[in-house]
Amino acid sequence: MIAIRSLWIAALISMLWGLGASRLPAAQSTPQDSLTAKLTPADIEEGKALFAAQCSSCHGVDGSGGMGPNIRGSAQRRGDQGLFSVIRNGIPGTGMPGISSLNDKRATQVVAFVRTFGASGAEEAVKGDAAKGKAVYAASGCAGCHSIAGEGGVSGPELTRLGNARAPRYLHDMLMNPGAKPPADPALAERAGFTGYLITNVVTKDGQKVTGVRVNEDSFTLQLRDAAGKYYSFDKSDLKKVETEPGKSLMPSYTNLSATELDDLIAYLTSLKGAQ
Ligand code: HEC
Ligand code: HEC
Repeated sequence: MIAIRSLWIAALISMLWGLGASRLPAAQSTPQDSLTAKLTPADIEEGKALFAAQCSSCHGVDGSGGMGPNIRGSAQRRGDQGLFSVIRNGIPGTGMPGISSLNDKRATQVVAFVRTFGASGAEEAVKGDAAKGKAVYAASGCAGCHSIAGEGGVSGPELTRLGNARAPRYLHDMLMNPGAKPPADPALAERAGFTGYLITNVVTKDGQKVTGVRVNEDSFTLQLRDAAGKYYSFDKSDLKKVETEPGKSLMPSYTNLSATELDDLIAYLTSLKGAQ
């Protein structure tokens, strides 16, 4: 594919060469930002509609983020070609899927639209204080279920590079009502089909009741992990009842935090950007 594209570019350059020296500057401008240079306002309108259809559910209609991060300023930071390739290939191993339904022309129109957000506004203002938020995290028992850089529990998703992946607004909703909008990351195997942390209630034939999330299942057995991290493996023939509770989460809601504590906690979570 890349080989084909460079052949095509080579052909184009030699064609432009043939058209005379006056056309050369366009062909020689940096590949970084030249992709969208010739697009018209109509293309940008197309890009806006495509963005609304293909990107806004995760990044918000204005690119300021939600389940996905704020991408205002992305075109300027990555260059047209860099953004194009994120759209084309996604970011492997993260919740950013490759958007294969956009052909090259449409992906370029989306790049042009993202460019109109401008270079500023890349960092949504977080009101809180990350250092204080770290203390709120420690005092709230979050580490019982979540790990950061290898430290902590396993009942909830790892948060090591959460700040790259989610916008503050989403974190706020998550802390207030964890079950309402569980993170839907089709690219993360553990969350495929939105059911990664789906609450499952089990009653065995001899009356034992267990609530946990499903870790694994096959035709004969079912494995759960409860909120305390305890692991259970059941023989399905021993179970009287298996029920799931969509819309609920093992994670408690943190409506008890004050507005300041919540802001600080969100600032801390947003600051988690992995090893960089
Ligand atoms: C299913 C949700 C989802 C959809 C749909 C989606 N994204 Fe993303 N995107 C994400 C997530 C999550 C990340 C963060 C990945 C990570 O963990 O680093 C991301 C990251 C990105 C990044 C890198 C962040 C940066 O600041 O440079 C860009 C650029 C991006 N997305 C652009 C787009 C565009 C453009 C579209 C539409 C064509 C799109 N995304 C569609 C979820 C999505
Ligand atoms: C009893 C276990 C438990 C505790 C305690 C807990 N969580 Fe969670 N958390 C989860 C689970 C499980 C999920 C996955 C969401 C779902 O249920 O679908 C989650 C999801 C999240 C997410 C979304 C992660 C993502 O990738 O989008 C964030 C952020 C989060 N928790 C932060 C916190 C913070 C901050 C605290 C402490 C104030 C906390 N959690 C306490 C279990 C827990």
